[in-house]
Amino acid sequence: MKLLVIGAGVIGTVYGYVLAKAGHDVTHYVRPGKQAALQKGIRLRFLDGRKPDPADEAGLYRLKLVETLSPADGYDLILVSVRHYQLEALLPLLAQNAGQADVLFFNGNWEGLDVIDRYLPRSKYLWGFPVAGGGYQADGLDAAILGEVRLGEIDGQRTPRLKRLRGLFEQAGLKVDVQDNILHWLWVHFAINCGIIAAAFKAGGARQLLDSVPALRQGILAGREALAVCRARGVEVDAFEDAKSFMAPAWLGAAAVWVMMKTNRPARKIFERHTAVDELRRMYHDLLETGERLRVPTPRYSALGAYVDHPPVTIGRGAPIGV
Ligand SMILES: NC(=O)c1ccc[n+]([C@@H]2O[C@H](COP(=O)([O-])OP(=O)(O)OC[C@H]3O[C@@H](n4cnc5c(N)ncnc54)[C@H](OP(=O)(O)O)[C@@H]3O)[C@@H](O)[C@H]2O)c1
Repeated sequence: MKLLVIGAGVIGTVYGYVLAKAGHDVTHYVRPGKQAALQKGIRLRFLDGRKPDPADEAGLYRLKLVETLSPADGYDLILVSVRHYQLEALLPLLAQNAGQADVLFFNGNWEGLDVIDRYLPRSKYLWGFPVAGGGYQADGLDAAILGEVRLGEIDGQRTPRLKRLRGLFEQAGLKVDVQDNILHWLWVHFAINCGIIAAAFKAGGARQLLDSVPALRQGILAGREALAVCRARGVEVDAFEDAKSFMAPAWLGAAAVWVMMKTNRPARKIFERHTAVDELRRMYHDLLETGERLRVPTPRYSALGAYVDHPPVTIGRGAPIGV
C-alpha cells in the first residue's frame, strides 16, 4: 500500500517504521522547512512487544519525506496521528489534497466529529488508535509497541476498506481489534487516561505512579469520575472492556495495574517515556470542562487539577527530533 503519514511524531514514526518494514511504501509529510533536519533519519530505541520476549533494539529509520501534498500523489491511505488539539488545523490540507486516499485518524478524540464533518465526508475517513508510544529524547525516539491496534468505522459497519486496513496492520504483525462504536471507545479511553494522567502528575511522574498502589488507586478513582462524564455524554461505559478495571473495587484495580506494569515492559515503557506533557494537561482540562458543562460531580478528579497545573517535579522533558 502507498501510505502517507502526517508528521514524524512518536506514533507516526513508530507505525511508519513497522509498516515500512512490513513492505509498504511509506512517506512522511512534514511541515515546510522540517525535512532537512530529518534527512539522515531518526534514531530509534525500540521495544517490540509483537515479539514474545522483547528487548530494546537500536535502529535507524531512514524515512521518505515530503513537504507538500497534492490530490495527484496517489496515496491509498493517509495516517493521521497528531495531538488531539492539532487536528483541526490539519483538516483544510486533507480536505483539499487527500485525493483518492482514505484518511485514518489514529489519535485521541474527545471533541467528537463536528469539526471533521465540516471538512471531510464520513465516507472519506475512519478512526483507530495506536497501542504504542514513547517520546523523543536527546538521542532520538525511545518507543515501544504492543501487538494490537484498534480500528472502526464511525457507523460500525464492516466495510471493504476496514478489511483492507485490517490486512495492512495484520501484515505488520499487529492484531486488529475492530470496535463497533469507535468514537465511544475513544472517549472511554480518553477518560481513563485522564484519571491516570492526573494521578501521575500528583505522584511526580509515571514511574512513581506505576510503583505505588495507593497512587494508582487515586488514578482509578479519578478515572471512575471521568467515566461518569462519558456516561453523561450517552456512552454505555460498562460495555467497554477497558472500563471494567475502573469499576472493580479500587484497591483491586490498582493492584492489577501495578502487577501488569511490573510484567509488561512495553506497556510500562509507553507510559514512562511519554513526553507530551502539554497534551496530557490539555486532555485533563478538556474532560474537566465537559464534566462542568454537563454538571457531573468530579470531586476527586477536580482536586488533582492543582498538581496537573503545578506538578511537584518537571516530568516528561521532550527533545528535538532527527539525528
Ligand atoms: N506518545 C505516546 O506515547 C502516545 C501513546 C498513545 C497515544 N498517543 C496519542 O497519539 C496522538 C499522537 O501523539 P504523538 O505523541 O505521536 O504526538 P507528536 O509526537 O507530537 O506527533 C504529532 C506529529 O504530527 C505533526 N503535525 C501536527 N500537525 C501537523 C500539521 N498541520 N502539518 C504537519 N504535521 C503536523 C507534528 O509535527 P510538528 O512537530 O511540526 O507539530 C508531529 O510530528 C495523540 O493523540 C496522543 O495522545 C500518544
